[in-house]
Amino acid sequence: MERTPIVELKNLSKTIHGKKIIDDVSLLLYPGQITGFLGPNGAGKTTTIRMMVGLMKKSGGDVVIDGQTLSADFEEAMSKVGVIVENPEMYKFMTGYKNLLHFARMHKGVTKERIDEVVRQVGMQNRIHEKVGTYSLGMRQRLGLAQALLHRPKFLILDEPTNGLDPAGIREFRQYLRMIAETEGVSVFVSSHMLSEIELMCDRIAVIQNGKLVDIRDVRETRESHYYIEAAPAEKAAVLLRTAGFETEPLESGVVIQAEKAQIPAVVQELSAEGLDIFAIQPHRRTLEDEFLELTGGGQLAETAAK
Ligand SMILES: Nc1ncnc2c1ncn2[C@@H]1O[C@H](COP(=O)(O)OP(=O)(O)OP(=O)(O)O)[C@@H](O)[C@H]1O
Ligand SMILES: [Mg+2]
Repeated sequence: MERTPIVELKNLSKTIHGKKIIDDVSLLLYPGQITGFLGPNGAGKTTTIRMMVGLMKKSGGDVVIDGQTLSADFEEAMSKVGVIVENPEMYKFMTGYKNLLHFARMHKGVTKERIDEVVRQVGMQNRIHEKVGTYSLGMRQRLGLAQALLHRPKFLILDEPTNGLDPAGIREFRQYLRMIAETEGVSVFVSSHMLSEIELMCDRIAVIQNGKLVDIRDVRETRESHYYIEAAPAEKAAVLLRTAGFETEPLESGVVIQAEKAQIPAVVQELSAEGLDIFAIQPHRRTLEDEFLELTGGGQLAETAAK
């Protein structure tokens, strides 16, 4: 997929008191894609994000947003960005709608129609004329999202937006993010320390550990390249498939193989021809956790804090 990135982090670095907090981070972000920024507490997610939006000075490197360099054209570059860092600032005694009107005045050309549109996009039509003080955390997050989208940013940055949300709230937020990435073509960059959440929310994942990017990978690719085959006798299936050149891994009463979807019919024929009984074939969703255990040789992701 050859596309033009909308955001480029170039050798971004931060040193505080002689200690490298962010170490030479380079990353490309694409339109319409949700990229997860995954790392344990203290890995450097917030520091990176703060530098990306000019809330903290960089020690080295640069950020290019839609062709504008942060260090040379700050205002211009930031006009393309929507941000939710920590809890969105809202006036509790005003209605959600009045809050949006207030924020709309900070940008050029945000029409009433655009306000209505973002309200619909985050599913707030029914409550938008109530005071923010009466909103649940999930609703405040969605209002924050609406606010960040008012000026039609090409790039949306969110630092741990689902912190404190319950599973239903997280799921809802995820669906809104997906819809926004798709309908508005926005490139979304969202941080989290939770593997499972990032895996469900994102197309791509950039992993940060101790201030360094240690991995960038595509989520869907990972998911679709493995199939679980339940067949009897399972041992014989494993031997046949290995002989046929597949990478295999025994699992319960079957075997997991690494294969393309197009190879599956031939696999079925082969196993049937050898007299095996096939009970089920399904895509095997290797979780990201499996991948990282492999990658780190023991799953240190959650434990290794930058000290
Ligand atoms: N102003 C500062 N002075 C000294 N050290 C700092 C400063 N800001 C951040 N750090 C250190 O930089 C490292 C990265 O912190 P950061 O807040 O970016 O991590 P994070 O990935 O956002 O973590 P969390 O998941 O807890 O939010 C930590 O070790 C932190 O202690
Ligand atoms: Mg943080």
